[in-house]
Amino acid sequence: MKIETGLSRSPAPEVDPQTELEFAVATEEDFEEIMAMSQDIYGGLDYLPTRYKAWLQESNRTVILARKQGKVIALESVCVIDDGETVLVEGLRVAPSERGKGVAGVLLKFCSQLMKAKYPEVKVTRLTRDDRLGPKDFQKYRLITKQGILLVRFRAEDLKLCLQELGLEALTPEATPDTPQPAAPVRLDPLAARHLFLSAGLARDVLPNATIVQDWQPFKPLASNMTILLKKDIDWMVDDAESPSVASLCTFPFRVPIGEDWYYLNIDVFGKDLEPVRRQFLAHLRRHTESLQGHVMCQLFLDPPLWQPLADFCRNTLRVELVKGYTEQCVVESDLA
Ligand SMILES: CC(C)(COP(=O)(O)OP(=O)(O)OC[C@H]1O[C@@H](n2cnc3c(N)ncnc32)[C@H](O)[C@@H]1OP(=O)(O)O)[C@@H](O)C(=O)NCCC(=O)NCCS
Repeated sequence: MKIETGLSRSPAPEVDPQTELEFAVATEEDFEEIMAMSQDIYGGLDYLPTRYKAWLQESNRTVILARKQGKVIALESVCVIDDGETVLVEGLRVAPSERGKGVAGVLLKFCSQLMKAKYPEVKVTRLTRDDRLGPKDFQKYRLITKQGILLVRFRAEDLKLCLQELGLEALTPEATPDTPQPAAPVRLDPLAARHLFLSAGLARDVLPNATIVQDWQPFKPLASNMTILLKKDIDWMVDDAESPSVASLCTFPFRVPIGEDWYYLNIDVFGKDLEPVRRQFLAHLRRHTESLQGHVMCQLFLDPPLWQPLADFCRNTLRVELVKGYTEQCVVESDLA
């Protein structure tokens, strides 16, 4: 199929003669139709409703729709990051009635070809997946890194009370000669975050495979990516501003379609030391449950061996509900053919 790089804002959609799918750039008017086919997605934790309008404004992003007989049946967003070397694939979805027929495969291929034609310097495509990947997938993809996913659910008011009742001391282990008291987490301002996240030490010692994964988006620690990240509402935290062993990024709570008064809080933690990870998790929770009212789905992404101790802590000490057992978030990459 000939790829028309002027597809963006082009009035006439492109048609794939084999599948008769039409591809076009998404607009604000398509929102309702996209939401209608997205109702079951991510167990109600779909971020697209809150991101859609902003996505359409981002200059490095293109949101592509596939239509069948005029009806929207699939969506994929492609975004150029990593100094123009990487295409990040996000938001992929196919209408439930059209799944299992190869639509996602056709759309992925169309978007790859479009991006290659539009940005000849891009080399690879990256995406994050939380489904089980098998040998067939690893013929297609290289694994860049993976994090464990701990998904918990609570009422903000209940957790706030629990944190108050427990008090800071109960949540802080006693210092012993072998295990000194860990330092209190430090929140970073944008300047400090930029400086630290671009330092070789953090990339080497803290970030998994030198990757900043923020709310499912994997970034290389590059100045251009930090500019993208620092435009977002994120709390940046470390255990030590000079020489960190743990760093974390927390979204501000945002609404998700699971129900009224449901919020999503997404915390990405990097580092292998349990205590500072636990303390940063608590610091983020404390800050964001301070004024929040309603239900919260909180997803904590962390080094896989830390999943079990943190899950026990959530259940036994914080008394919050674990929504599911251990799952993984995998960042994968393939060459853009
Ligand atoms: C995942 C989903 C998009 C697959 O759509 P589909 O049209 O049924 O998929 P296809 O029939 O094209 O077949 C699956 C192909 O897509 C690939 N695929 C499946 N899930 C994928 C994912 N999350 N990201 C990228 N590719 C995926 C498969 O590896 C397979 O590729 P292959 O043909 O090279 O083996 C669809 O089931 C869906 O919308 N699910 C709900 C939303 C969701 O989970 N999206 C994934 C976001 S990470």
